[in-house]
Formats: sequence, structure tokens, C-alpha cells
Amino acid sequence: SGDIFRSRPVMVNDLTTTHHHLCHLESTLPYKLSKLKALATADDDLVLPAQDFSQQAHVPSFEKYLEMYKRSIEDPAGFWSEIASEFYWKKKWGQEVYSENLDITKGKINIEWFKGGITNICYNCLDKNINSGNGEKIAIHWEGNEPGVDGFLTYNQLLDRVCQLANCLKDNGVKKGDSVIIYLPMLMELPIAMLACARIGAVHSVVFAGFSAESLVQRIMDCKPKIVITCNAVRRGKKVINLKDIVDAALAESSQNGISVGLCLTYANESAMKKEATKWQKGRDVWWQDVVSEYSTKCDVEWVDAEDPLFLLYTSGSTGKPKGVLHTTGGYMIYTATTFKYAFDHKPSDIYWCTADCGWITGHSYVAYGPLLNGATVVVYEGAPNYPDPGRCWDIVDKYKVTLFYTAPTLVRSLMRDGNEYVTRYSRKSLRVLGSVGEPINPSAWRWFFNVVGDSRCPISDTWWQTETGGFMITPLPGAWPQKPGSATFPFFGVQPVIVDEKGKELEGECSGYLCIKSSWPGAFRTLYGDHERYETTYFSAFPGYYFSGDGCSRDNDGYHWLTGRVDDVINVSGHRIGTAEVESALVLHPQCAEAAVVGVEHEVKGQCIYAFVTPNEGVAYSEDLRKSLVVSVRTHIGAFAAPDKIHWAPGLPKTRSGKIMRRILRKIASRQLDELGDTSTLADPNVVDQLIALADK
Ligand code: WTA
Repeated sequence: SGDIFRSRPVMVNDLTTTHHHLCHLESTLPYKLSKLKALATADDDLVLPAQDFSQQAHVPSFEKYLEMYKRSIEDPAGFWSEIASEFYWKKKWGQEVYSENLDITKGKINIEWFKGGITNICYNCLDKNINSGNGEKIAIHWEGNEPGVDGFLTYNQLLDRVCQLANCLKDNGVKKGDSVIIYLPMLMELPIAMLACARIGAVHSVVFAGFSAESLVQRIMDCKPKIVITCNAVRRGKKVINLKDIVDAALAESSQNGISVGLCLTYANESAMKKEATKWQKGRDVWWQDVVSEYSTKCDVEWVDAEDPLFLLYTSGSTGKPKGVLHTTGGYMIYTATTFKYAFDHKPSDIYWCTADCGWITGHSYVAYGPLLNGATVVVYEGAPNYPDPGRCWDIVDKYKVTLFYTAPTLVRSLMRDGNEYVTRYSRKSLRVLGSVGEPINPSAWRWFFNVVGDSRCPISDTWWQTETGGFMITPLPGAWPQKPGSATFPFFGVQPVIVDEKGKELEGECSGYLCIKSSWPGAFRTLYGDHERYETTYFSAFPGYYFSGDGCSRDNDGYHWLTGRVDDVINVSGHRIGTAEVESALVLHPQCAEAAVVGVEHEVKGQCIYAFVTPNEGVAYSEDLRKSLVVSVRTHIGAFAAPDKIHWAPGLPKTRSGKIMRRILRKIASRQLDELGDTSTLADPNVVDQLIALADK
């Protein structure tokens, strides 16, 4: 199918009957929202919400949305403080609900929300729900890799476990403001560790357990944690991954570089590996099970300022080393809670499952914090989504009666390939809302998700957002308006997306350009850890006055937003953000690699894949062994998920006379669009292009 790769604007043909009421509201909005499409149209490209869904939804209509949206833009302070008042604050924030400067020409970029307010996000996730009578409600259903292996924790039990670990951390010298690295797979101990840090005001930095030792070193060197929390091993599908070995290597290298971590708290995950088989460094390594349960299940909360840091999460940019995205407490708390509630239409009886790993922002905001702040019941799954077969997800959905299911387009496409049989053999009748995140969802995958998985009954929340934004920015509110397959639709409350041209001019009506955000929202990141200048130049200098997302976007006549992918040198592989520069550095670290250039190419399942042009050193022959060892180099420097799919031998790279690599040409060669190479006359050596084409399938 032609649309496998990218969602494209699907134009709605017949424009519509206008609601006068809506037009009135619309005229006060910062940009033109659509005239709401008249209901009951024959247009295939519009998927209308079912009436019975809308009637029960938090936001039952577009009118209601517009009313709330308008308020959120005209009076952000009032809108957000009303919501924030529903949470527990030891002390209310000061007079100014927020202050901001997003304009680099006017001075330092600065965003603050609920400043002076004193709170604790762990308290709001756990104690608050318990105090309101939900202590016996299940907080986490844990499903192991092997079918039949499972467990659960009520809110009461979760609080006990969090307090024990928090006491253990404190006892080991972790204080407010200290950082803790968490390198764990999807065990219950992962959210427990995050919450324990939050409870004592420590700053957690979760590192996805698919990152290599070297990536871990980089992060350890940057944030200098007091403690590293990990486990000995994990089983994903049939594979056993020895995480402790990776941590050992990372800790050894970090201490050679002057950063020694005094304690490596290791959870014994004996279903994957016996304790005895685990390598151990006496004095540094301690088994979680040996110590944590000795501590009291009561731990006083460390009350923190709304603007005190909650966590650091490293993410890839287009250049240089990973950036430590820093989120603070109060705004992030209010924003993740609110976005979760509305975008999934969450109700107390829902069972929610997000397939993301807590190692990524989606797991932070929408496995842990957003849902728990709402007192939700969350499913945490340890294993691979297609193990032991491609029906596993729906098996889990039926087992726990999951009502809200949130995943990534890459998984949808891969399950779609495996055939409907694996889906339809399960009931799935509990499902109410589906969600998508990580990359644009192409209309055919959207339709399969909607029709086959959701039996044409469940709205899909295609949520556009980023590590930096903390929570959803552009997202459908299920039931509130018609959907268009592949469109993330409209902005969340308080968010003002603008589409600008190269000069930074705001475009109106039907348009296409760079997606920016005007004015701050509570969940925005506040800085890049230790490098506020990089924060300012990366995000706020391209288009002064705006936050620049790095994404392209178009808006159709009806005001719907269509994300078109990254416009910088970031590749999105299966929803994982990977910087081309990082992969290139990993390749050139290989002793036989002279030069490398990496581009993203469309891929049927992964969305994009990594395509590397490599020039070996003078005299080194192209060989299968070299190819393999280059891939290994990327696996060891970054992680397996960043391994190039293709190595294309390059006697030379197309460069301008000033030595700049022309990636445009490489992208065309990589995607075999050879008749679209464009002007190659400005290249220092135009012959390079023919050489590359000749080697395309070698
Ligand atoms: C992409 C993940 C289209 C986008 C939450 C963004 C999306 C990057 C969507 C952030 C979506 C995420 N539609 N594109 N619904 N969601 N993206 O920081 O390119 O891992 O800039 O955060 O993913 O990736 P990150």
C-alpha cells in the first residue's frame, strides 16, 4: 500500500455546515480551528465518534473542548491552578502561577510553574489515593515474560514497597537533589524505584535497559549518581540479557574516569538468572532482596518546591552527546495527570496498559506518573509483545480486561503483518480507547488498529509529544470530535501549536512547515542538565519567541494537524529517537572505518531504519566480516536498537567543496530514488555519486 510510510493529509472534500456558536469561539483562538464537520457524512476519511462513547466522555463534544481550550489559552493561570488545586500541596504556590520567557532575544529562556508551591509527586501518586479510600485498589498488574507468571500490587502494597526502598536509599546517603541511575527492565521494581526517588526528593535518571555499557557510562559521567539500581538479568522472549554484566562494565569504566558509584543495588530476577550465576563485586554490590525488606514501610515524604527537579532523561539530538532533559516536579505532575485523564478518557474503573518501557519518556509519563496520579490500575509487561506468539498482546488484554491500550505504530504494523487471526481469536471486548505514540501512524495501520483490534468501536488517541514536552501536546480527545486516520488532530488544553516557514513566519489556514509552540505549558522541560546554553540554542534560537520541536507538520483546511516526521538529523526507528551523529561516531570508532554518514530510510515496520554509508580505511577490503563488526561497534557504543540495517560501501562521500556532506543526495541513494538526485554539480567530486550507485547492492 502506498501510505505505509508516512501519514499524509487526507483532505476532506465537502466543507461543511458551520455552527455559529463555534465560529464565535473560534474567532478568539490563536489560530483558525476548523469549522466542525457536519455529522453523518459519507466521507471515508472521517471517523465519527460513537454517540454512546461521547455521551459518557469527560469532553463530550467539540463545543465543550473549544470552551475549555479557549479558557486554557486566555487564562492559563486560572485554568491550571483550578486543576492543580485538586492535588495535594503542602503549601500553595505563590501569587504568580507561572512565569516564562521563550524569547531568546529578550534574555534567558525561563519557564516556571507553581513556583513556591511545596508538594511531592510520590505522595500524590500513592498516599493521596490511599487517603481517599483506594488503598485496596490494584495499582500495578505485572505480567511476566512467560505466560502464567504474574503478580500485582495494591496502592497500599505499592506504598509499602516504595517506602522500604526510599528508606534504604536514604540510609545509603541519598539526599534531596542527589541523582540515582535506574537501569532496570519492566519489573515492578522499576516504577517502585522511580517513586522511591521521588519520595525523598532524589532525581532519578532511568536508562533504558537496551542501552550498552558505554551509553550507561556517558550518563553516569554526566549526572554522577550516588547509587545505581539494576537487576541481574531479564528474559525478553527467548533471550536472556545479562544486565549486571553491562552495569559492571559501565561502573568499571566510570570509576577509571573518576566517577565511582558506591552502591549497585541489584534486584535478583531469578526467573532469568540465578543469584549464584551473577558476577559480584563485594562491598559495592548488594542484593535488593537482602536489604530492602528490612526497612520500615513508613517513610516520611521529602517536601519539595514545584520547581525542584524530578528526573533527568537522556535523549538524542541531531548533534553531539545525548541531552539530559530535565523535568521539575509541580508542572510535570499536573500536566501528566491532566493529559492522561483527558486523552484516554480515564475513569476509575479502567484498566490501562501502555506497552512502552519506563526507560523512555512514554513510560515515565504514561506508565508511571500520569496513570498513578489518577489512581489508575496499570498493567506492566516484562516481555516482548510477540512472545510466545503474535497474539500475546490480546491475550494480556483479555486476561486483565484492559480498557485503555496505548502502543506504538511500529508494533501495530508488525502485528498487522502477522495476520488478523492472532487478533480475532481473542475477545478484546473490554477495550474502550486505543492510543498511538512515537511516530506518525500511517492511515492503513490506523485503520487496521481501529477496525481489527478495536472492532471499529474504540477511538484512537494519536498523541504527538516529545521527551521535552513531558506530556501530550497534540492529541485527540476520544469522543469529542471526528478523527482522521493519521492525524493527531488538535492541541491539548493550554498548548498553542504554530506552523512556521523557514523565516519563522506563522502560517495560517492550510499550510505546511516547522512545528513550534508558542508560550509555555506546565509539563515543559526546564533545561538540559548542566547545559542551559545548549537548551537555548537547540530549541529556542531557530525561531525566536517559540519552542521549536524539530518536527515538520501540516495543517489541513479543517484545522487538523498532520505530523510529517523529524526535520533535523534525528532518525525515528520503531519510535526510538536516534541521532545520526551518534551512530556515525560509533561507526568511526571502529578501527577500520575512515568515515561514515548515516541517514534514515523508510521502513515498512520500523517507520524508519538506519542506513549507513561507510568508507573503510585505505586498503581495507569490503567484506561481510567488516560489515558485521561495524554493526557490532554500534551495538556496543549505543545499543542493539541503534544497529544499522544497511551498510553501504562508499569509496567516498558526496561533499560540497567546503567539505560538507550532502545528506540530501545520500537519502535519495539510500531510498533508491535515483532519478531525484537533483543538482550534483556543486559536489567537490561528482563521480562519487556514480560510484555509490554502482555499489548500492554490493
Ligand atoms: C515523534 C516520544 C508523529 C516526533 C513521546 C517527535 C510522533 C519524537 C508522535 C519524540 C505522533 C512522537 N505522531 N510523530 N503521535 N509521537 N512522535 O522524545 O518526531 O522519544 O519529535 O518522545 O517522536 O520522540 P521522544
